Amino acid sequence: MNVPADAAGSEEVQELLRASTEVKPIEPAPETLGPGSEVTIETVQNHEGVQTFIGLADRYLGEIGYTEHGFRHAGLVSHIAFNVLNRLGYEDRMKELGAIAGYLHDMGNFVSRSMHSQTGATITYDILKDLGMTYTEIGVVMAAIGNHEEEFGHPVNPVGAALIVADKSDVHRSRVRIKDPALFDIHDRVNHAVERSFLRVDAEARTLTLELKIETEVADVMDYFEIFLSRMVMCRRAAEYLDCRFKIVINGSQLL
Ligand SMILES: [Fe+2]
Repeated sequence: MNVPADAAGSEEVQELLRASTEVKPIEPAPETLGPGSEVTIETVQNHEGVQTFIGLADRYLGEIGYTEHGFRHAGLVSHIAFNVLNRLGYEDRMKELGAIAGYLHDMGNFVSRSMHSQTGATITYDILKDLGMTYTEIGVVMAAIGNHEEEFGHPVNPVGAALIVADKSDVHRSRVRIKDPALFDIHDRVNHAVERSFLRVDAEARTLTLELKIETEVADVMDYFEIFLSRMVMCRRAAEYLDCRFKIVINGSQLL
């Protein structure tokens, strides 16, 4: 702002200067999907590229010693993300996008584990456009996938928040590929210890509770926290985005 030197001391000018430097928070625009497409989770699941890339992602992660990230994980996360949005009363199209983002979120792992959320989001664009999805819907799904890793992800829309909680909830012994417990690393040990995991959504109490049954001879609760602390912090942020509190119950005891 250009202010004449002789006028700089006047009250009016001081007020103008103050107004020009004050930072005013600007609320984000509300999420509106507008007229949606008719692309369903079933159509996405049947896409040849989706089937091929998820299969490759699981195979290549297996080559470098990671736990299962294939059709089982994709299907489960899809189902849980849908369920979270459903129980919390989101509109039908948002729930469907949750299911789609959940199914596709780890597809980028076939390119590389590193930055798989970014590559996965990018690959998703062509596939969803191919199927006839609108730009807005594609944008919501890409943002959700691109933000699901704890290193640099943030819940930026309801689909992304539901995806984060769903993904991080899938800890289970069926994901461990190595059969010999002597060869387990801490990830295998913690996953192997979990006999049951369930994400309970209480819409009235506004809580998302991860209920785990852990075999403490295989891994103790501290092992679990060592691996999952950053994931749990992310789950808390995601739950807050959905106007809920995140809780963990392990072997019947509430820890968070
Ligand atoms: Fe995942």
